[in-house]
Amino acid sequence: MGTVIAILSGKGGTGKSTAAAALACGLSELGRSVVCVDADAELRNLDLCLGLSDEALLDYGDVLAGRCSLDKALAAPAGFPSLRLLPAPQEPAEEGLADLCAQLRERFDYCILDYPGGLKPGVEEASRLADRVLVVATADPCSHRDAERAAQLLRTGGSPETFLLMNRVSPPLLKAMGLTLDDSMDRVGLRIIGYVPEDKRVSLALAAGKPLLEADKRPRRGAAAAFRRIARRLDGQRVPIR
Ligand SMILES: Nc1ncnc2c1ncn2[C@@H]1O[C@H](COP(=O)(O)OP(=O)(O)OP(=O)(O)O)[C@@H](O)[C@H]1O
Ligand SMILES: [Mg+2]
Repeated sequence: MGTVIAILSGKGGTGKSTAAAALACGLSELGRSVVCVDADAELRNLDLCLGLSDEALLDYGDVLAGRCSLDKALAAPAGFPSLRLLPAPQEPAEEGLADLCAQLRERFDYCILDYPGGLKPGVEEASRLADRVLVVATADPCSHRDAERAAQLLRTGGSPETFLLMNRVSPPLLKAMGLTLDDSMDRVGLRIIGYVPEDKRVSLALAAGKPLLEADKRPRRGAAAAFRRIARRLDGQRVPIR
């Protein structure tokens, strides 16, 4: 039975889809079978983060409506043989993801759900479906407050194991806020799974139509290396946070 990991945030635009794609690629590099599900119906863009756009023609709306099989809807990003994407429909699907998730859990080591920004439907659905939740926040006060709210709701929902992923960290921003990384973790009240630096290679990879981890193989520096470290941590390896 595979592990279901939901990626959420309070505030939108914190880097959930970037993180979902990069962690899926990172786990795939470790030899795990991974499926990434775009749970952001209507505003889907996980396909772009995985270097797929025209190739991802079918979606889980087609599967739920019986128009195609699950296998047909799974797209294969180039460069990561054990990774698949299940794209989101353009219209919100009536049924939730529970049945699909149960099937995906049987077939893959990891199933990563990329939710839209905001607390609904992510928090409620993730509390039911996921084994682990990663709340993605950036290092700014609004994002911290919204992540704190998401963490509170997850706690009251009898939540799965929940971690904070701090994205777009830049020393000047922390300095302007008078914060250290530890302060920001304390503020949100969640255990940290990792820090990812602000890195222009994230948007350069997107513009080039490549997954970040394919575009950047540097072992130590940058966002790609940080996501690789988080993937190893998720896979149970002991990797120091800093
Ligand atoms: N570490 C980073 N460094 C630089 N840019 C980043 C980083 N992470 C994400 N970005 C950029 O931030 C923007 C938003 O990222 P992304 O689409 O992943 O956010 P999201 O949380 O999925 O948004 P939404 O809430 O709309 O689904 C994108 O332009 C992306 O390239
Ligand atoms: Mg997104």
